Amino acid sequence: MNPEIVNPYGTKPVRPSFAARRFGRAAAVVVIALAFGMGAAQARGPIPKNLEPVVKAAYDKFKDDQRGKNADYIPELAKVPSELFGVVIVTAKGKVYTAGDVDYAFSIQSVSKPFTAALVMQEQGAEAIKDKIGVEPTGLKFNSILATQIIPQVSVNPLVNSGAIASVSMVQATGADERFNKIIGFFDELSGAKLSVIDSVYKSEAATNQRNRAHGYILAASDRIYSDPMEAVDVYTKQCSIGVTAKQLGIMGATLANGGVNPVTKKRVLDAKYVPKVLAIMMMAGFYNESGDWAYTTGLPAKTGVGGGIVAVVPGEMAIVAFSPRVNDAGNSVRAAEAITYIADQLGLNLFGSAK
Ligand code: DON
Repeated sequence: MNPEIVNPYGTKPVRPSFAARRFGRAAAVVVIALAFGMGAAQARGPIPKNLEPVVKAAYDKFKDDQRGKNADYIPELAKVPSELFGVVIVTAKGKVYTAGDVDYAFSIQSVSKPFTAALVMQEQGAEAIKDKIGVEPTGLKFNSILATQIIPQVSVNPLVNSGAIASVSMVQATGADERFNKIIGFFDELSGAKLSVIDSVYKSEAATNQRNRAHGYILAASDRIYSDPMEAVDVYTKQCSIGVTAKQLGIMGATLANGGVNPVTKKRVLDAKYVPKVLAIMMMAGFYNESGDWAYTTGLPAKTGVGGGIVAVVPGEMAIVAFSPRVNDAGNSVRAAEAITYIADQLGLNLFGSAK
């Protein structure tokens, strides 16, 4: 790879930082591993027919784990009962296994981001995401302003707030209502449910999202946003406030696991060729500044949200979802991550290879 890249916002070519080059190589490794994982069902050994026991075991093992604390920078999230805990597997054939609070509707938050990126791919192709947003991980927090200043693309990638706001702005529509209706309509198809916004969460975030508005203006100043910036921030805020249950999120993830066809409704929602692209960005940036740790520990593409939800995808096999509102400093649910890692370990699902 040519180490010199052109900085579109300055006159001088810039050399990517060591971290950026290292991530570039890591991205290539991950994409190869994901492709390998797609056909690696034999390598990992047979997955049990009945997944009820492993879901129950994950629930029991972590039900008393109280590490982390509800996010409170969106005041409404602090009010969600911290004890809630649900674990779900939805297979690529549409079988659903559950334990705990799997019917409680929590705000999807950042778990929405890969799905909106998928919608943009569906409308404009995978290159549009790479060219107009970017796909590099930051190694920094999800709302880092610094990342937007040191990474030439500014928007960075569709899973951090900046890139997610840019992603929303790319959804083709004549105005905010149409844009939001397209997004929630797409989520409805992915989940096979009629989803709605949790109004109290939306109002709470809309009143406190000055930092995201700053992202909107930075994007506008750099020509990296594709609708009115404040309108994009508002639609993004609404998108993050969509309520989903762990079960519904499991079906959204299982649609990715099943190559873009919702395994319950049997409807194709996303072209199969975009699924590896969505999973690649989840692998590289789904846990923000903990993405490396997550890949190292669990080895599955996944996405977290400050509402406490996490979806992980095993291509061709299943989605594993856990929900627990207590998050760590990176904004990732502690107990949900533990439960998913436990299931992945028990079933030998790590895409990079497994001792099982
Ligand atoms: O924009 C925000 O800050 C929230 N609506 C979403 C952030 C988030 O979920 C980060 N996740 N782990």
